[in-house]
Amino acid sequence: MSKTVVVLGTQWGDEGKGKIVDALTEKADIVVRFQGGNNAGHTVMVDDREIILHLIPSGILHSDKLCVIGNGLVINPKALIEEMTELSDRGIKLSGNLKISKNAHLIMPYHLAIEKAKEDRKGKKKIGTTLRGIGPAYVDKMARVGVRVVDLLYPEVLREKIQANVSEMNELLTKVYGMDGFDAEEVYKEYIGYAEILTSFVDDTDVLVNDAIDEGKRVLFEGAQGTLLDIDHGTYPYVTSSSPTAGGVCTGAGVGPTKINTILGVVKAYTTRVGSGPFPTEIMGPFGDEMRERGGEYGATTGRPRRCGWLDFVALRHAVRVNSLTGLIITKLDVLDGIDPLKVCVAYRYQGDLITEFPKELNILEECEPVYEEVQGWQDSTKGIKEFDKLPENAQKYLKRIEETLGVPVDIISTGKKRDDIIVMKEHF
Ligand code: GDP
Ligand code: IMO
Ligand code: MG
Repeated sequence: MSKTVVVLGTQWGDEGKGKIVDALTEKADIVVRFQGGNNAGHTVMVDDREIILHLIPSGILHSDKLCVIGNGLVINPKALIEEMTELSDRGIKLSGNLKISKNAHLIMPYHLAIEKAKEDRKGKKKIGTTLRGIGPAYVDKMARVGVRVVDLLYPEVLREKIQANVSEMNELLTKVYGMDGFDAEEVYKEYIGYAEILTSFVDDTDVLVNDAIDEGKRVLFEGAQGTLLDIDHGTYPYVTSSSPTAGGVCTGAGVGPTKINTILGVVKAYTTRVGSGPFPTEIMGPFGDEMRERGGEYGATTGRPRRCGWLDFVALRHAVRVNSLTGLIITKLDVLDGIDPLKVCVAYRYQGDLITEFPKELNILEECEPVYEEVQGWQDSTKGIKEFDKLPENAQKYLKRIEETLGVPVDIISTGKKRDDIIVMKEHF
């Protein structure tokens, strides 16, 4: 039995990671987010209550589990405090159950302003970001000028960093973008207010997580976004600014690769994408709209309609490879109930040639036509089914087809929104 399990997205995010992490938390001791920020929206349904988590790990709804916001995240403290308040109001215990890494970076008000200005300027070529300041916060991290969570504990350091950053950012905002600048002292006062609320949650989370692993505790790592949004392995530049792939676990939580036992890739039974960028299997027109309605495919963070399409084996093979996946988790199988035939993309056609590996060149990917194979659908409902043998025969065949094509076993199948709408083929803790 593995002691450390990673759950990450294999597509363009929104694969249903939150639901799966919540379900697996029952047998885990600790749940750790390792990248991203409140661009994520992870939906968890418990007793008909829907809760959307953005920064706090999806394990938080279980009363006795430790949830860690790792060093790899960029945290908007205002958004975090709002999320904490919402959870507390719902009776969820945070004190003692939530720890925030000292090394995580902070999203500052000027990050949101500069992102909006840059996106507006890109016009048609905009990335379609969540406008949460994620990209600019990671830029500052890499430029080695970022404000970190630990700075909240040292008011003078915080003030100095904010002064330096605001003065440079104001030049850019006012002179290049013709926008208003920020008042450093006001930003400082706002952030020192957040410090008061957050300080008791701040910890050396790398020590905590490694000690827990060494003691034999069961640790679940929760990815945000997905492989195709990864800064290195995604459809650059239409990506996010962090590493949602397996390597991100190591840097974003401070855990070496030899301590990772199991890497599970969440695969939605079809494909969706929010924001701009190439999407070879996108279904345009009324059937794409029908798929969106069937799957309730509207962004959990921004409410934007998600683009919908067929399952793409070319992209998924890439995800299997760059994450070294040990198992697959197929979600939203029930959304395909009644669609017959189904299609799966087995290759791309580019200027007459067949391509079987996901292209690195954006210009090629944009022109790729999907090569489909038809697969028989099923009429009976799969909603809420908890045993593989009870699935309609063609649903079983669809899952086997995924397993065989990708060469990775399907360990878990999700058949609905609720925690127990799940088929577990293999236990992980
Ligand atoms: P995440 O970002 O990967 O956590 O996914 P989101 O929460 O953004 O989007 C997944 C949506 O699908 C949410 O509304 C979930 O409640 C829902 N969902 C998750 N698993 C299933 C499933 O197996 N069937 C159905 N019908 N809905 C699901
Ligand atoms: P979860 O964790 C789907 C997309 C945005 C945009 C691109 C860059 O819920 O799966 P960013 O704000 O990160 O700079 O935006 O990435 N994006 C997501 N799409 N699910 C997400 O998270 C996403 N987080 C970012 O729509 O295309
Ligand atoms: Mg989401």
